[in-house]
Amino acid sequence: MSHQEKINRLREMKYRSTLGGGKARIQRQHAQGKLTARERVELLLDKGSFVELDRFVTHRSADFGMDQQRILGDGVVTGYGAIDKRLAYVYSQDFTVFGGSLSETHAEKICKVMNLAMKNGAPIIGLTDSGGARIQEGVVSLAGYADIFLLNTLASGVIPQISVVLGPCAGGAVYSPAITDFIIMVKDSSYMFVTGPEVVKTVTHEEVSFEELGGALTHASVSGVAHFAADGEEDAIFLVQKLLSYLPGNNLEDAPVIRAEDDPLRTDEALDLLIPDEPNRPYDMREVITRIVDDGEFLEIMQHWAGNVLIGYARLDGRTVGIVANQPAMLAGVLDIDASVKAARFVRFCDCFNIPIVTFVDVPGFLPGTAQEHGGIIRHGAKLLYAYAEATVPKLTVITRKAYGGAYDVMSSKHLRGDINLAWPSAEIAVMGPEGAVNIIFRREIAEADHPEETRGRLVADYREKFANPYIAASRGYIDAVIEPHETRPRLINALEMLQNKRDTNPAKKHGNIPL
Ligand code: HXC
Repeated sequence: MSHQEKINRLREMKYRSTLGGGKARIQRQHAQGKLTARERVELLLDKGSFVELDRFVTHRSADFGMDQQRILGDGVVTGYGAIDKRLAYVYSQDFTVFGGSLSETHAEKICKVMNLAMKNGAPIIGLTDSGGARIQEGVVSLAGYADIFLLNTLASGVIPQISVVLGPCAGGAVYSPAITDFIIMVKDSSYMFVTGPEVVKTVTHEEVSFEELGGALTHASVSGVAHFAADGEEDAIFLVQKLLSYLPGNNLEDAPVIRAEDDPLRTDEALDLLIPDEPNRPYDMREVITRIVDDGEFLEIMQHWAGNVLIGYARLDGRTVGIVANQPAMLAGVLDIDASVKAARFVRFCDCFNIPIVTFVDVPGFLPGTAQEHGGIIRHGAKLLYAYAEATVPKLTVITRKAYGGAYDVMSSKHLRGDINLAWPSAEIAVMGPEGAVNIIFRREIAEADHPEETRGRLVADYREKFANPYIAASRGYIDAVIEPHETRPRLINALEMLQNKRDTNPAKKHGNIPL
């Protein structure tokens, strides 16, 4: 073979590897409104930056006629490139090759890029579209999954891991995305479940569609498994890029600083009028957030699940902050099981990756009721408490209105190492709301009064006047300053700057025992 023939051979193999399972299957993929594995990678990475690895890997199976069907790349495209000029690793499952199913070698390819990502401190993005374990390979495929799960776990808290589910993701395969930091699904074309509709029907006699059981909307609004439900594949990929813009490449880096035009000293007088005079009237905490952060840009995460707490990323004078906020416009901003779990995992992610946390507090307490108690609100609420307590990143808190009871303690209070705790004049910081408090401490006086309702009303007003304010907490130093709402942005930016070099540590230990 001449030198030129050798080069031609390489070129031919490279071309063949781009065809995956062949043109007919690529057409089928397109007909379903889905992109191919390579098209997705091209869309995700900066133009021309993708460097592919292992494109000539083939499976090692000989059973069931598999020795006659060896496809270059074996159903997954892997490598690295740049997203907004920053290094990122990627794997993209190719549904045209045995349904994107996971073989021994397919798993090895994924593990190789995961290991590289960990060693070199850059995010890993998994674009998944797979029929699960390669059925022809049996336990070897299961071993491959376990290898990936192990690496997902080891990489957790070291590099950001993002899963984009762009097709089927069923059985044990769901547990790789589940361990990663973010799951993005696509409406109408992706689904995730441990057991599919057929098995569900056999076992529980329920009839349920793929979409209803495990579609994007189900996981984004019912189960809380997915962080985003994208409108299409382009939208899903855009979300990855947007999300990464807020994150550092690894746990030893700081997030990139992206300065906006927005003046760090900008005040916003509308904030002074935002809290209603009537203490039980709702308002939208999203408006508080967007009026304060750079350019009003807030990337909300898990928008459709546990809406009584808001989480997401924004920037303050160009620096990424993780925002946690009670949402009085939903269930009065109460903390329940789902809200606690949602916020707790977010706080821990921020703490892993050196992202300061800004907490906006307007919380009447934990949600009462048998459903919550029997569901384990004690255990789940403790997760949020634990997450805030162990977090050593800068923690800024703004109490806009209510901060009652245990929820006051939980929401990044001074007592859990809050660094700067601010309150608006509308803050009400007490063990419980005035009505509840008066009913307990003045039960006898009210019962014995000539006009019980009048007496109760007077006592409630007295209590509100005396205790439903920020000044008792401020007199103790639990609140560092009571500020006018319009000055919140400059105050937070100033505090962030002041805390830039914050160093805080927890006692040496293997790891804590968060109440799971
Ligand atoms: C090998 C597979 C495959 C698999 C699909 N294919 N899944 N090959 N192993 N797991 C192949 C098909 O044979 C077909 O090959 C091609 O991929 C496309 O599949 P279709 O069925 O034609 O596609 P579609 O109609 O879109 O249906 C997609 C599907 C279905 C719903 C995913 O293929 C399916 O149900 N597959 C089996 C899913 C499954 O039971 N997997 C194992 C789950 S257990 P041709 O040559 O015709 O193109 C599991 C455990 C993980 O994953 C454990 C981790 C611990």
